[in-house]
Amino acid sequence: MSQPFDADTPNIDAPAIAPLTTDPVPEPFEVKFASRVDRLPPYMFGRINNSLYQKRRAGDDVIDLGMGNPSDPPDPTVIQKLHDAASDPGNHGYSKSNGIANLRKEVASKYNRQYGVRLDPDSEIIACLGSKEGFSHMCLALMGPGDTAMIPSPYFPVHMYGVILASGNVVALDVADPDRFLRNVAYTCEHMAPKPKILIVNYPHNPSSAVIEPDFFVEVVRLAKKYKFMVIHDFAYADVAFDGYQPPSFLSAPGAKDVGVEFTTMSKGYNMAGWRVGFCAGNSEMIRGLGTIKGYYDYGMFQAIQIAAIVALRETEASVEKQSMIYQGRRDVLVSGLRRLGWNLTPPKAGMFVWAEVPEPWKSKMSTMDFAMKLLEEGNVAVSPGSGFGNAGEGYLRMSLVENEQRLRQAVRQIAKCLSTSGAPTSNATT
Ligand SMILES: Cc1ncc(COP(=O)(O)O)c(C=O)c1O
Repeated sequence: MSQPFDADTPNIDAPAIAPLTTDPVPEPFEVKFASRVDRLPPYMFGRINNSLYQKRRAGDDVIDLGMGNPSDPPDPTVIQKLHDAASDPGNHGYSKSNGIANLRKEVASKYNRQYGVRLDPDSEIIACLGSKEGFSHMCLALMGPGDTAMIPSPYFPVHMYGVILASGNVVALDVADPDRFLRNVAYTCEHMAPKPKILIVNYPHNPSSAVIEPDFFVEVVRLAKKYKFMVIHDFAYADVAFDGYQPPSFLSAPGAKDVGVEFTTMSKGYNMAGWRVGFCAGNSEMIRGLGTIKGYYDYGMFQAIQIAAIVALRETEASVEKQSMIYQGRRDVLVSGLRRLGWNLTPPKAGMFVWAEVPEPWKSKMSTMDFAMKLLEEGNVAVSPGSGFGNAGEGYLRMSLVENEQRLRQAVRQIAKCLSTSGAPTSNATT
């Protein structure tokens, strides 16, 4: 076991040096990044985002189905509570980095109410500055050089790069078919030495919208105990589901707390993405590891936000359900519109995205990135190319349901026009 860092290192006490009589020859100053930054690839959505920005500056009305950034406001009760809490002078100091006790208690009540899961708010729940922050720091708490995480593929970028930034390695497993995914988890554990340390799962999945049934997590727990890996479930889309489907919580599988944690967020279902409120719940040792890192890095969320988040969790369930219905309506509009154009896609049962295969002949003739650029430049519709989520996403587009139904109908018309007027490509002109 490594020793705690000895902070009691001697101070340097240099002797006085004579001042320089001539100025040194100026040389260009070079900023050298740490190797962990050099391991990161160029940002895949940079090209799309640049073009989107230029178009908007030029006054074009681009329909943006790119980022999963909710465009509807939170429930008015929550905004009012934020206003009131922000007016209280007692709420402006540093808060607790693991979240105030009443917020953690409210999360425990929600887990009990919704999933029948009992959690100790003190040791089994921690608040994060959005689940992405919590997830990244959890990777830092658990992973290091030589450690491997199994992640879903295609992947939400932080599932890959949270591990890479923590100096770990990644094995990516196809997420589309849950049974196959589990078989691949077992196979990887049987054949890899040293064995993977972590399994990262994410259902409803971003970007592919894949979903699972509760039995899936029973098997995950069994495998975790057998092969001794820890589990992190990213449950960002817990609150956004359609047609009666209820996304299961990993923590409701028997024994889940022995092996892992689950991240939830108020960004999606509660329309509070900019507020940065997320939670990690489950295994108390893993939570303690995350809390230790967070204690060094942050001072917690603005307290007024935490107080308003309590009200959101306690009083606005109906708004969360209504928001799911709104996404369901948008899903229907987009899926039926694209199907009329001959696109091949499965309507998602949950989440905020339609994952659509690029139609032929474009799929065989150009990269997904070029196809997405074409829709943006010629059709004024921004989408995320699947390749931004790893090679397994090539050939797919992710379209987010953040624009209203009328704008989605318009998007389908613009896509149809852009693809019909430009004609199908005849050669592999764009690489
Ligand atoms: C799968 C997944 N996890 C985490 C996040 C980030 O959520 P938060 O806003 O809580 O950081 C997102 C946001 O798009 C997501 O899609």
